[in-house]
Amino acid sequence: NTIVKEAWGSRLGLILAMAGNAVGLGNFLRFPVQAVQNGGGAFIIPYLICFLVMGIPLLLIEWSTGRYGGKSNNHSTPYIMDSMGKGKIWKYVGVFGIFTNVAVVAYYTYIESWTLSYVLHSILGTFEGMSQSEVARFFEDYIDIGKSTLGIPYEAVVFYVLVLALNVFILSKGLGGIEKVAKIGMPLLILFGVLLSIKGLSLGESGQSEQFPDASAWDGLNFLWTPQFDSLTNPKVWLAAAGQIFFTLSVGMGTIQCYAAYIKPKEDIALNAVSAGFMNEFVEVVLGSSIVIPIAAGYLGLDWVMENAGFGMAFQTMPFLFQQWGEIAAAFAGVFWFGLLFFAGITSSLAMGTPWMGFMKDEFGWNKNQGAWSFGALALVMGLPTVLFYQYGVFDEYDYWAGTVSLVVFALLESILFSWVFGINKGWREINEGSDIYIPNFYKFIIKYVTPLLLLLVFVSALITPENNDWALSLQGLGEGQAWQLDNSSIIRQISHFGLKEQLALDLPGSLKLEIENKIFYSNLARTLLVGLFLFISLLVYLSQKKRQKEGRTTS
Ligand code: PHE
Ligand code: NA
Repeated sequence: NTIVKEAWGSRLGLILAMAGNAVGLGNFLRFPVQAVQNGGGAFIIPYLICFLVMGIPLLLIEWSTGRYGGKSNNHSTPYIMDSMGKGKIWKYVGVFGIFTNVAVVAYYTYIESWTLSYVLHSILGTFEGMSQSEVARFFEDYIDIGKSTLGIPYEAVVFYVLVLALNVFILSKGLGGIEKVAKIGMPLLILFGVLLSIKGLSLGESGQSEQFPDASAWDGLNFLWTPQFDSLTNPKVWLAAAGQIFFTLSVGMGTIQCYAAYIKPKEDIALNAVSAGFMNEFVEVVLGSSIVIPIAAGYLGLDWVMENAGFGMAFQTMPFLFQQWGEIAAAFAGVFWFGLLFFAGITSSLAMGTPWMGFMKDEFGWNKNQGAWSFGALALVMGLPTVLFYQYGVFDEYDYWAGTVSLVVFALLESILFSWVFGINKGWREINEGSDIYIPNFYKFIIKYVTPLLLLLVFVSALITPENNDWALSLQGLGEGQAWQLDNSSIIRQISHFGLKEQLALDLPGSLKLEIENKIFYSNLARTLLVGLFLFISLLVYLSQKKRQKEGRTTS
């Protein structure tokens, strides 16, 4: 076989692409919100523990299984997993590793498109002279697709399609295109991040605004970084911490396996995996926590931040806060901040395109153009409803089922496959082969027992979260013969819309009922699309298996 196998151009390219994959909107937008909502310093300890006992092990598992799959020319999880564990089921488990990416990219690129639009608006000076509430309203108008701020009809949709097309274009250039974007984007991202962090940290204690004379950037930092031990027994905080570690490291998604499948057989993975993981953590805990929170706390006060912490916060506040630094500085800060977010976003969304492309190439011989455009089309079909019905929560539904629950389920199954089906001894050998560092032996124990057990714990507790998240009281109530009450946030109750249907039965004003009915309708729409996507990819896996059998290529 004289065909040159596709591979990464250089080690630097690989590391930057992998770091670009991990470093994303999660570091700058999701992490601060999660930390604030889960008690600041109370969040940090579970978060760091989850990084060490779930994050690092899963990175090692995914990098090594990816490289292992690449040796037999498999570049996406259905057949990577198939090559590790005989039995039909694993290739269908592997469907997750394509499904999640398509579903997440659909809404992820939407946020990415906001960042691009906000770069433009910063340059155009749109935010000049706006008050805080005007900047906040600008965001609301922006996502209301009927309105337009640039005079372009359906502006939000136009930017969304544009950003998707840009992703498709880069993906059609193959790994080389991704490497190039990472080589430009990552250094700029770090540079912008450091500049903004210095500014954020130098705001200091002095009141920055007349409106909130007591506001202090240091309050924000102290809140985040004063460890508190009282919440260590609260499973909700642990769930949030684990969820954030998964999302931010891109584990449980299938992208790392895919990237790693293009590493040459004897090349190091252990050092690469650990460095990319630590690089992501640096960007998250150092840069990610010293921009939005301190700057917002410095001008608006910590109380305001805690009340308003949410995903759109950075879009609703930062352009106003930058204005306080003067017109020119505001334009630069806006370009740095939203440009940073854009690079963080695109290097991640590109990663999400590769498992689908790898699969279609391996199984159906599709070239890069076909792979990239079909990926774009799929993402558009999944994504348009999130854009058009954003206010009805299609977006949140995707983020919950595809961006959170699926990650945990898939990670749990792959860690079982790795340690218990493939076998930890073989697995450990895969991790260490060609390694440039020595991974302490106790990690073998962690990977075999601690990681799957914790994952199971996380999953089960999300499935059956008790009322008010109060485990102690619920267990005690059980002992006293009381029925176990599930919280609305538990997966089981959410699947059946139980809380919502209960509310519908109450005597409520019509407008509220309509809102609830809409919520049920649109989340059913979102779930139908997600299930449809999963079945569609499963069907492709089924067809590919038939094709392999006909061609006499071995598969179970
Ligand atoms: N890790 C990325 C972030 O922090 C998100 C992501 C998840 C990227 C999965 C690729 C795959 O934003
Ligand atoms: Na990240």
